[in-house]
Amino acid sequence: MAEAPRISALIVAAGKGERVGGGVPKQYRKIRGKSVLRRAIEPLWRHDAIGEIRIVIGEGQEPLYEQAIEGMTLPSPVLGGATRQQSVRNGIEAIAADGGADILLIHDAARPFLPAEVIDRLLEACDSHDGAIPAIAVTDSLARIDGSTVPRSEFVQVQTPQAFRFDAILSAHRDWAGGTTATDDGEIARAAGYDIVLVDGSKALKKLTFEDDFMGYGGIPDIRTGIGFDVHAFAAGDHVWLGGIRIPHDRGLAGHSDADVALHALTDAILGALGEGDIGTHFPPSDAQWKDAASSVFLARAGAIAAEHGLSFGNLDVTIICEDPRIGPHREAMRDRIAEILEIDRSCVNVKGTTTERLGFTGRAEGIAAQAVATLRASS
Ligand code: CTP
Ligand code: MG
Repeated sequence: MAEAPRISALIVAAGKGERVGGGVPKQYRKIRGKSVLRRAIEPLWRHDAIGEIRIVIGEGQEPLYEQAIEGMTLPSPVLGGATRQQSVRNGIEAIAADGGADILLIHDAARPFLPAEVIDRLLEACDSHDGAIPAIAVTDSLARIDGSTVPRSEFVQVQTPQAFRFDAILSAHRDWAGGTTATDDGEIARAAGYDIVLVDGSKALKKLTFEDDFMGYGGIPDIRTGIGFDVHAFAAGDHVWLGGIRIPHDRGLAGHSDADVALHALTDAILGALGEGDIGTHFPPSDAQWKDAASSVFLARAGAIAAEHGLSFGNLDVTIICEDPRIGPHREAMRDRIAEILEIDRSCVNVKGTTTERLGFTGRAEGIAAQAVATLRASS
């Protein structure tokens, strides 16, 4: 029996994701809690036929890369170049230097949803061809900018991964004489005269190129909701902090920090939406630095964590539950203050006050309670 071919995969993840923008390059953004790069790796990692997986990363991306591959053992990443073509070349040369392979799949990190059937089709096609590339039909009408029509049936949209005999793609890249930079390895292999076939791709393989591409998969946008609740008891004092506003009152609220129940509930709601535990995880009451701290610090930190997750605010809604002080006269100021702390538009924030009709601990004026809901969405 012939020896099984050595099948390797190369994932290029060295781009800057400039068209998407935002804080981190798109391949390190998280979709439903998992980075795009990790999602791109997993189907190849799970596939029985694929041995080694090499990742090409950009300069300075090591910490993001390490985070993305946590728990996976992979060979050291390869440093990419200024163009995708150069990044692929660097990856292929690194594999060649380490002994090469029989078949190489080249994949974009920016295509995180790869059905196993596409891998199967590519590998099968490589039994009888120098390479295979996945393609899908063009469904919209095509036209030239000057208005003349183009027969759509003559075109396909080309995706990755693309599979090649390793020696073929290595020599094709080395021999590339095209004046311009190629964005597609199939083009490079064909230019070198290799026999490359099309196999059925998948809509799931859509490349994440613009912000909009992150908005939803299968009609389910990446929207997070969190809920928060907090209570503080009244104590001696002459003011309370509520919603980031100092309100004169005949008593104060007891607490380790400034006891702003509204901001605490809101901070918990945001941390909840992010899957980041609660306020106590981030600001333990046992830590002396938070004694008498302004709760605006907690809220601002939750906002910063949201940005680290690549999430931005949809809306925030807070209900403060007490008999006194009256919330109505202060709600617009609270709204402005919360918006200011989080650096968001005030239209994203709502503050309400309610009583419990003199029932329960809030009704007996023993303390103040607050509830909050936060909605965040994947966005820059
Ligand atoms: N890529 C790469 N090295 C480059 C440029 C791109 O490895 N110098 C990778 C990207 O990380 C991505 C794939 O090639 O996985 C496809 O490229 P593209 O969608 O253009 O990604 P970016 O170049 O990162 O995005 P943009 O062009 O918007 O900056
Ligand atoms: Mg690019």
